[in-house]
Amino acid sequence: MEIPFQAWQAAQQEELANWQHTIGTTRDILAEMADSAALDGFMASVSELRKVFEQGSIEALEVGVGPLGLGWVGLFGNAASVRAWAIDPLPLLPVELVPDKDLASFISQKRRNYRFFQAAAEEAQFPPERMQLIVCDNVLDHAQKPLVILKNCWRWLSVHGFLVVGVNTLSLAGLIKWRLLQRVRPTNRNFVMHPHCGTHRAWRSALVRAGFCITREQGPAIVRRILGHAMRSYFACQKKL
Ligand SMILES: C[S@@+](CC[C@H](N)C(=O)[O-])C[C@H]1O[C@@H](n2cnc3c(N)ncnc32)[C@H](O)[C@@H]1O
Repeated sequence: MEIPFQAWQAAQQEELANWQHTIGTTRDILAEMADSAALDGFMASVSELRKVFEQGSIEALEVGVGPLGLGWVGLFGNAASVRAWAIDPLPLLPVELVPDKDLASFISQKRRNYRFFQAAAEEAQFPPERMQLIVCDNVLDHAQKPLVILKNCWRWLSVHGFLVVGVNTLSLAGLIKWRLLQRVRPTNRNFVMHPHCGTHRAWRSALVRAGFCITREQGPAIVRRILGHAMRSYFACQKKL
């Protein structure tokens, strides 16, 4: 579960170009917000997570918030009792690139909900057991060393803290098709931007290997695990000792 640095750099170049387009297109910004709302919907369905927010003041981190600078932490992590952080290897893009003035002012207001550090999650330094909540949505299949990221998240979480993951997953048939097409067209943008691909089960195993207990998961039903289209799987994972 590791790709060469150069392959990750190529993925990040495509990623940046993609975000430069997104930030200039109102419809694409709204689509990104809808993605974060889907993650929030999953989080709202996990009763154990509600207990984390009821603890009083908590520290939360979003890994790979994205150059738009919204993410879950920007849009939903604004409770008075949450001290929030966000990291991404790419810089936050200037809000002046947003075509709609009101939307630009909304985004700059949301960015104030957290402190941002430009860093890859494999290299970032946070004190151990600092966070009660870490969110990592649509990042692992874009990263260089996803398992190292998961192990870092485990280290940064306090005992009983939660990692919430959203990750693109393929069915078994989809995985075979992906690997075949990737060989034929390795420079295709979609393959460059997603250096890792896996089934719901494979990502679940990676989370368990990093030390997490899966409290709740949302993924494809049995038939779709074999034959279905790509989809976003969600996992709520707890650090237990
Ligand atoms: C598809 S975007 C998702 C952004 C955001 N989480 C969202 O859902 O809108 C993938 C993000 O992962 C970030 N990323 C890639 N490799 C990473 C790494 N090693 N550590 C942290 N973030 C990474 C990229 O820079 C990019 O912002």
